[in-house]
Amino acid sequence: MISQETNDKMTLVGHDKPAGKLLRRYWHPIGTALELEKEPIQRVRILGEDLTLYRSKSGEYGLVAERCPHRMVSLEYGIPDERGIRCPYHGWLFDRKGACLEMPFDDRVNPEAMYKARIKIKAYPVEALNGLLFAYLGPEPAPLLPRWDVLVQDGYDSVIQIHELPCNWLQCMDNAADPVHFEYLHAELGNYHLAREGKPPKMVRTNHLKIEFDVFKYGIMKRRLLEGESEDCDDWTTGHPLLFPNILAVGGVDWPTLQFRVPVDDTHTRQFAFRTKRRAVGAAPRPQEVIHSNLFNEKGKIVPDNVPAQDMVAWVMQGPISDRTQEHLSASDKGVLLYHKMLLEEIEKAEHGEDTLGTVRDGTENEPMIRLHREKVALHAFQSQYKSVVDREAETTGT
Ligand code: FES
Ligand SMILES: [Fe+2]
Repeated sequence: MISQETNDKMTLVGHDKPAGKLLRRYWHPIGTALELEKEPIQRVRILGEDLTLYRSKSGEYGLVAERCPHRMVSLEYGIPDERGIRCPYHGWLFDRKGACLEMPFDDRVNPEAMYKARIKIKAYPVEALNGLLFAYLGPEPAPLLPRWDVLVQDGYDSVIQIHELPCNWLQCMDNAADPVHFEYLHAELGNYHLAREGKPPKMVRTNHLKIEFDVFKYGIMKRRLLEGESEDCDDWTTGHPLLFPNILAVGGVDWPTLQFRVPVDDTHTRQFAFRTKRRAVGAAPRPQEVIHSNLFNEKGKIVPDNVPAQDMVAWVMQGPISDRTQEHLSASDKGVLLYHKMLLEEIEKAEHGEDTLGTVRDGTENEPMIRLHREKVALHAFQSQYKSVVDREAETTGT
């Protein structure tokens, strides 16, 4: 149980809120290169800010204010230009840094006034990495965009799966710091729903004997020991990382995934799951795909008959912002408590303008990639009870 003040401090994402200031010190996915190729201007919302994401005619990405400061039309209807984005109404042209480069009528009739030199719109840097577009909304100088191994390593094909979630981002991360939920949320709830659909159970509940959490340079390594596993099993010796503040690595070495839980605003989160799969020797690379998945059925309900949907139902069913003033954390919440402590410590650092956990500024650390330790196959004891490899691959995308 925590105070309302602490819950607000950890959850709210506005630019003047403690967690909002912390989250702004990290790069976050905001779109995909594939979709900007088809639709070069998109209205986007991130960290409570409405913005315009675009691809210029010269192929550069920009992220600027939602509206043109002349007469406030949405730049969503703008025109991509070689040098940036042009407002559709009277043609004012803005570059990637938000500077106004042209005011066509004023430039013709009153060029000496140089009114455009006094006009600037909000603008944030954007970088592309293997099909994902990342934005940085924090104080300058921006840190380096981390080159996580899953995003850049050779020999893997990738799919970007996007989910819109009507809940605060921290619920997703609390779930990531809570391995024990696998027993009921995934095994028992999953089997219950499969039974209701007239399907056989896919899971046999495997109980946790021990859980442990180790803080490292980029976040927390989560380790667990399940019934039937020995202590030299890499679920226990290695585990997998929660990358601070809002990324979870899942999936083992042959199909590693990074799940980025991006705050849209205080009560909405967009998850970008960058799912990869090791390519068979000699196989041709598969083109990247982007999938927008609808979590809700036609009745507006989530059907939790698979692992990712089960995690999402847990996040969403805690409400728009979980009321942590009423919680009763127990022995299974050791990781949640550690993560909250870390979050509050890093919030303090951000308040003082200091670099926070996992900030990457050294190019040698980032090149060619940041390698993450992880289990070879997650949940050995549990996986050995799966009915088929096909199920295993489909299901192991979120624990
Ligand atoms: S409203 Fe944008 S140029 Fe006039
Ligand atoms: Fe899970």
